Amino acid sequence: MKKTLLLPCLLLFLLACGTARRGEPLYAPVPVSEPAVAKGEVVFNRFCQKCHPGGEAGLGPAINNKPVPGFIIRLQVRKGLGVMPAFKEKVISEEDLDNLMAYLKTLRKAKKQTAT
Ligand code: HEC
Repeated sequence: MKKTLLLPCLLLFLLACGTARRGEPLYAPVPVSEPAVAKGEVVFNRFCQKCHPGGEAGLGPAINNKPVPGFIIRLQVRKGLGVMPAFKEKVISEEDLDNLMAYLKTLRKAKKQTAT
């Protein structure tokens, strides 16, 4: 893909996945085994929880129910989108973002196991 097409495609993708799933939470408490995941949970609770409670839809859409690629999530956290604020490195460090991604992955896995 040409480089110039990449950004519009990304934006389209972000817009297209904006539907929110609302309803009873389906998630089980996430088993926190790895230190990165535990740290990521702290970051999540501090910065994301209020709009994506437990990864479910709140003010923002659910982020535990679709395979949004990691780099898109990172981009979204750094740049923000619509109502969602941007979180700069001063607020969420690169390391915190790594941990956050580890936590989100665990959240998604836990969701898959309980949603069957
Ligand atoms: C002030 C509320 C708010 C906070 C805080 C917030 N978000 Fe969001 N988030 C939103 C909204 C609203 C959207 C939908 C944006 C749109 O499509 O215009 C969104 C969208 C997303 C999406 C894209 C989901 C999709 O289906 O397109 C991801 C991923 C995401 N947020 C992750 C995070 C993470 C990770 C954090 C914590 C660092 C966070 N958000 C903090 C409100 C928030």
